[in-house]
Amino acid sequence: MMRGGPVLAVDGPAAAGKGTLAKRLAAELNLPYLDTGLLYRAVGRLVLDAGQDPAAPAEEFARTLKAEDTQRKDLRTQEVARAASQVASQPAVRSALVETQRRFAQARGGVLDGRDIGTAIFPDADVKLFITASPATRALRRFLQMGEDPKAEGATARLAEMAAALQARDAADAGRQTAPMQVAADAVVIETDTLSADAVLAEALRVVQERLGTHAG
Ligand code: CDP
Repeated sequence: MMRGGPVLAVDGPAAAGKGTLAKRLAAELNLPYLDTGLLYRAVGRLVLDAGQDPAAPAEEFARTLKAEDTQRKDLRTQEVARAASQVASQPAVRSALVETQRRFAQARGGVLDGRDIGTAIFPDADVKLFITASPATRALRRFLQMGEDPKAEGATARLAEMAAALQARDAADAGRQTAPMQVAADAVVIETDTLSADAVLAEALRVVQERLGTHAG
């Protein structure tokens, strides 16, 4: 398939910093950016709104998904994340969203972050990164992102709950049959525990340079 620009796949577990990196890479390289998690979150949200169990077939919601469904402000909750992971385990939901993702990068290439971009959506991506960090680091990052104060009353219990929720979702994402989260054979793994966002970007740009020979855009 001929594309109008390079495709960069940024995969990894929950709250590893994929979004931050992918957004900055896209800006740096002047490429379109797609947060593919929002597609699954939007489907999960619609299923919850309809009062449906996220374990029940959700293909229809995925097939009729509209751009504005992915732009809602209420997609970042833990409840939606859990529903997203449940609908994402359904092969029919995943296949309904494949074309949207491929089409996104058709004209100019793009940076896409998710779980299966380098393995299933773009097995021929020009650059594949797998961004990860320890469960404790990821739980703390998501906790702070949600505006929580780790020193506040009851924070320790809520942080532990957050860590357990992330781990449960990672296990489901890595263990599902269709397009499980896994490191593509030709992906470069970046462990971000001890790296700042700037350092992660610098490392990613180094990999891009090496793989593409030049900066895109
Ligand atoms: O932001 P966070 O890393 O917590 O999650 P996300 O990227 O928004 O993804 C939410 C859920 O959607 C994941 O737990 C996966 O189950 C699913 N997902 C997927 O299956 N494939 C993708 N390419 C992206 C997300």
